Amino acid sequence: TKKMILDLDTGVDDALAIAYALAAPEVDLIGIVSSYGNCLVEQSAENSLKLLEILGATDVPVFIGASHSSTTDHFDVMQVSKDIHGNNGIGEVELPKAKRPVESQTAVDFLIEAAHKYTKDLIFVPTGPMTNLDAALAKDPAIAKLIGNVTFMGGALTVEGNVTPYAEANINQDAEAADRVMRSDLNIVMVGLDVTLRTLLTKNETSTWRELGTTAGKAYADITDFYIDAYYNLGIDKTGCALHDPLAVGVALDASFVDTIDLNMKVTYDENNYGRTIGDNARLNDATTNVKVAVNVDKDRYLGVFMDYLTKLFKN
Ligand code: BDR
Ligand code: CA
Repeated sequence: TKKMILDLDTGVDDALAIAYALAAPEVDLIGIVSSYGNCLVEQSAENSLKLLEILGATDVPVFIGASHSSTTDHFDVMQVSKDIHGNNGIGEVELPKAKRPVESQTAVDFLIEAAHKYTKDLIFVPTGPMTNLDAALAKDPAIAKLIGNVTFMGGALTVEGNVTPYAEANINQDAEAADRVMRSDLNIVMVGLDVTLRTLLTKNETSTWRELGTTAGKAYADITDFYIDAYYNLGIDKTGCALHDPLAVGVALDASFVDTIDLNMKVTYDENNYGRTIGDNARLNDATTNVKVAVNVDKDRYLGVFMDYLTKLFKN
């Protein structure tokens, strides 16, 4: 079976990504590396540990990664992130304290080790900034040709950004790191706002989790309802919330959920275009491309699988 590592800034949709990866029978979740973004890196790691615990997955190790971007020395959580994901990243829901700590190995070293061990069987899924992956490539460039696939949530090609007219939040955290990743030898699939903003979850679905009467079902319903309410209150969407991060996990396991176009991508980071994900004109006529950009999604089929997986997981 394939092995998956998630790289999370554990907010609400990252929490849903953990559940999807655990529930999917076709993959082993071998670890979670932590990043900053929706919350601070320590909070992200703590959230992941707590969520794994209520999901009965106390064997999945959690690693600490970058606390800030490759071009800064400090990170503060944006107010809009707190509004969308809550001050603690998981919708203000208080989960029991995790019974185990994070691993002592760093996120970067864990990723490098896993790349050499599992090579083409390894799928790496960043659903936060690219800072960890960029640092791993810098430390051991050989991993670019080893890792089977990197499917990330981030960017926007055919629609506007959600932080600026160009920039999506994850890319906006560290555009330079994302640019280096795009230009590497990695096989990449970009699952951006082009498809995630079309893949919405409503309270009709979360209420079925609550009705299961289990700890996990209730916690995930409460966490996700905070996010659905935030989407409503901020006027992002009046019906539901975007399944950004769990869609990336779904596409990593079944590429047929989306239509993609092959492109050599870059990320611009000049002042006026910071964080824009766009085709690289300088490599437009290259014989090969390394990024598949998702531009359309079979959202009904995806939602069916998403609900099937998560409901089964929350039942136990
Ligand atoms: C992305 O930014 C984060 O807030 C979400 O968790 C998601 O990964 C959406 O732009
Ligand atoms: Ca995220």
